[in-house]
Amino acid sequence: MAILIKNIKKLVQVEAENPNLRRGKEMSVLNCIDNAYLLIDWGKIADYGEMSELLYMADTGVTRLEELEKIVDNVIDATGKMVFPSFCDSHTHLVYAGSREIEFMDKIRGLSYQEIARRGGGILNSAKLLHETSENELFRQAMTRVDEIIRFGTGAVEIKSGYGLNPEDEIKMLRVIRRISQESPLTVVPTFLGAHAFPEKYKNDHEGYVSEIINEMIPVVASEGLADYIDVFCENGFFSVEDTDRILNAGMKYGLRATVHANQMSESGGVEVGVKYNAISVSHLEFTSDKQYKCLAESQTIANLLPGATFFLEMEYPSARRMLDEYQVAVALATNYNPGSCPCGDMKFITSLACLKMKMTPEEVFNAVTINGAYAMGLGESHGSITRGKCANVFITKDIPSYEFIPYSFSTPLIDTVILQGEIYE
Ligand code: NIG
Repeated sequence: MAILIKNIKKLVQVEAENPNLRRGKEMSVLNCIDNAYLLIDWGKIADYGEMSELLYMADTGVTRLEELEKIVDNVIDATGKMVFPSFCDSHTHLVYAGSREIEFMDKIRGLSYQEIARRGGGILNSAKLLHETSENELFRQAMTRVDEIIRFGTGAVEIKSGYGLNPEDEIKMLRVIRRISQESPLTVVPTFLGAHAFPEKYKNDHEGYVSEIINEMIPVVASEGLADYIDVFCENGFFSVEDTDRILNAGMKYGLRATVHANQMSESGGVEVGVKYNAISVSHLEFTSDKQYKCLAESQTIANLLPGATFFLEMEYPSARRMLDEYQVAVALATNYNPGSCPCGDMKFITSLACLKMKMTPEEVFNAVTINGAYAMGLGESHGSITRGKCANVFITKDIPSYEFIPYSFSTPLIDTVILQGEIYE
């Protein structure tokens, strides 16, 4: 299907050449075209430019606009509206069974995330529910979240396993993730997170579970091609630096690239071990010092900030300003959609939190949720900007005065039309 979007008030994040990952001050650059058009064909961005270029009348007497309108399948008049590349949500756990609002009540009564986990709640609670849920039902529940995030403007998403915590259930989750990528128009990046928590069975035998991950799970995940990345929750009370090192090392030998949950509750050592294995990203970073900022600045690893979880767990936000201003770190932003620390898949809300709570500018934020988010899941060449040849994942806003209006109106739905892989999502 060919689609022409005309009279676009502002076409955002436009780059003639595919942009590199943006670091520090580079994240202030957000190129836009006013009064623009966008042409989509064969699922790709075919062309774009100023409307005036379409209105030029050659000696035929017919403008290019008139010619195009005759041959495309769909013409969308976007007067007053803006067009963005779809959000790239590079850290989620959106395949899970049921929900955990009972723990939300515990939280209101004053229990911390770690206290809830120590009582057998948290990730173990989700693992129990997932074990009792069939693969079809798990898929059905996940697809309601998929539909939700698409309508929120997300076009590419990383999804982790990590609520299975045994070989069968981890594989079940990864198969559901694969089915999502086959049956939805989202671009899906699968990550194996067997090392999310120690299951009940291995409560007193951590070495036993680490060995099971290394010797039983990773080989199957890799041989069935079920994941591209391997993740570890490196944190006090969860996986130690040594566990993380061994698991990432084993994953890498099977072709799985590293990513790490690092420094969420403490200075866990997750950044250093992630960088050691050239992790694509390290996520969270609430407890991060100059030493780790420097380590990130000197690496290719992206700092993936998840302010939705910081908000929900009522913690101190990571210091995005210092990462950007003093260390030129590459920052991405993601939702971390999951039942425990962020039951929210709304990237627009993440843009508001990043502006308000971490003092990122709208330009930095839009880079963090588009091109850097794409790089944070290995999709930088195909997603995250309006560049000819890239995947036609875009959204058209409602009539809005400026792009700053998006993070500013923190709960108003502002998306009018979603186009994924060149097709209008109904
Ligand atoms: O990224 N911290 C570890 N994993 C998730 C929370 C998962 C859960 O509580 O279910 C996170 O915050």
